[in-house]
Amino acid sequence: MSEELLVGIIRESSGALSDAWAARDAGAAEGVRIRYLGRKGGELNEVMRGLKDLSADEKRIVGPLANSVRVYIEASVSAIKEDDREKIIEAHRALGERLRGREGGGALSEVIGQRENEILGAGDVADASRSRLDLTIPGRAPHIGHEHPLVQTMEDLIEVLTRLGYSVAEGPEAELDYYNFEALNIPKDHPARDMQDTFYLTGDALLRTHTSPVQIRVMESQAPPVKVIAPGKVFRCDADVTHSPMFHQIEGLYVDEGVTFADLKGTLEAFVREIFGPEYRVRLRPSFFPFTEPSVEVDIASDYVAGGEWMEVLGAGMVDPAVFEAVGYDPERWTGFAWGLGVERITMLRYGISDIRLFFENDLRMLRQF
Ligand code: PHE
Repeated sequence: MSEELLVGIIRESSGALSDAWAARDAGAAEGVRIRYLGRKGGELNEVMRGLKDLSADEKRIVGPLANSVRVYIEASVSAIKEDDREKIIEAHRALGERLRGREGGGALSEVIGQRENEILGAGDVADASRSRLDLTIPGRAPHIGHEHPLVQTMEDLIEVLTRLGYSVAEGPEAELDYYNFEALNIPKDHPARDMQDTFYLTGDALLRTHTSPVQIRVMESQAPPVKVIAPGKVFRCDADVTHSPMFHQIEGLYVDEGVTFADLKGTLEAFVREIFGPEYRVRLRPSFFPFTEPSVEVDIASDYVAGGEWMEVLGAGMVDPAVFEAVGYDPERWTGFAWGLGVERITMLRYGISDIRLFFENDLRMLRQF
């Protein structure tokens, strides 16, 4: 008995669904409502009248099914009246949801599924002029994020350097005067402190002005040989088109027995060609840093860039024996070289960016170009 009733409901529902779908205007939709749910002689109502003869258990199964169909017809009739196709589809989905997992729901949801395919499928293309659902509109491409150009350069540099045998070390951004200056052979009243306009936190503590203090921390904590790079943020009280109060550096340090200036030069040349390209020439220009002796500034040039003009990319030199003494390495036995580069500077040269502030404004028109 309940089986028969179920079949009746499914048949009526199927008819109601087709008719509801075929209805093209408010009048036709109202016709569908009256035909199936009309107070007098509504076909679905008629079938549901049989419900009262069912046992309580059977009612529990058939009742909710029939009710779901009723809710559905009402929802789609009103959606058609409002000419809202999305609401019709939503009504289908909602019905599917309600039927899922219910006893007797399977057969009915198959019917619903067919109707839904009609609505979402060919019917829409044929009917596109009337439909608000234009299947010919290209899809919306999802926005894919980018790595910031500085992060890209930083990661490229780290990748090349780890291949050259360096491992990555880190140190604090808020640093002690001792590590940032003193142990690097820059005593309190040394004029070299003027080269770096320092943000002091207290008399003793400051925001590190370079990544060189990491050299000291690494050598203090491990015995030679040492081969590390230290990427990170540094801070100087300076701001214009080529200077930012916060910027990034990567420090390199290699200490072993018998390391010579030729090793430094070879490393720098290999590294410049990897990062900028094999067409670049490298020039070492004498310079001064208190923590290296001799010290150089490294320039690069390519016939294809800036008319072959030399561009400064980093500072380097052989570790000063005074630095080895500060960390307790024997300067008679160990030699080494260090270098430090500005990541912003390298990125600007690499991409032809003329204003350092562009990195920190987070203007998407700029960032999307990378
Ligand atoms: N620390 C120096 C600077 O910030 C760069 C440097 C590092 C030079 C290591 C030589 C050796 O200017």
